[in-house]
Amino acid sequence: MIRPFSLSDLDAILKIEQESFPKSPYDRMTFIELHSFCPETFLVYTETSADQRNQVWGYIIFIPEGRIISIAVLPSQRRKGIGKELLQKAMEIPDLKRLQVEVRRSNLGAQVFYSHLGFEKIGISKNYYGNEDAIIMQWIPIS
Ligand SMILES: CC(C)(COP(=O)(O)OP(=O)(O)OC[C@H]1O[C@@H](n2cnc3c(N)ncnc32)[C@H](O)[C@@H]1OP(=O)(O)O)[C@@H](O)C(=O)NCCC(=O)NCCS
Repeated sequence: MIRPFSLSDLDAILKIEQESFPKSPYDRMTFIELHSFCPETFLVYTETSADQRNQVWGYIIFIPEGRIISIAVLPSQRRKGIGKELLQKAMEIPDLKRLQVEVRRSNLGAQVFYSHLGFEKIGISKNYYGNEDAIIMQWIPIS
């Protein structure tokens, strides 16, 4: 199930973040700020486990004007379609003109993921991550 983030998800989100972006994870305060900035477009993917616990497997944060801020899925739950389901929520924004995301040049897995969903590489942002370039990828809805 995909639903809006709530503050009780924070510990689970921080675990996903640290395992997904070990070089530069967002911290607790950044997620709290992003939640107040994007209350309706900070979404989590959850599943109810056999013992009925609510597990958070992934998240996406996007700006409705058409920019992905971040997306990540817990490593143990990848390649099951969760990332795709989360990204499709952003792709379904009404009247969207374009959707853009920056990806580390070294993050080939994410580049293939976005390409698989119809994104194209449109440019490079030099040293966007300090010592590493970002590849700018874009998806344009078929009108
Ligand atoms: C990128 C990420 C969110 C994808 O999540 P996911 O749930 O594994 O993705 P999905 O299962 O929905 O993948 C859909 C398709 O994308 C492609 N894909 C996804 N991850 C891939 C990888 N690492 N390598 C190659 N192709 C990949 C595949 O074609 C996949 O379909 P398939 O499994 O049927 O072959 C996840 O790998 C992740 O959290 N990465 C670390 C954080 C990150 O890099 N985020 C993006 C920052 S811009």
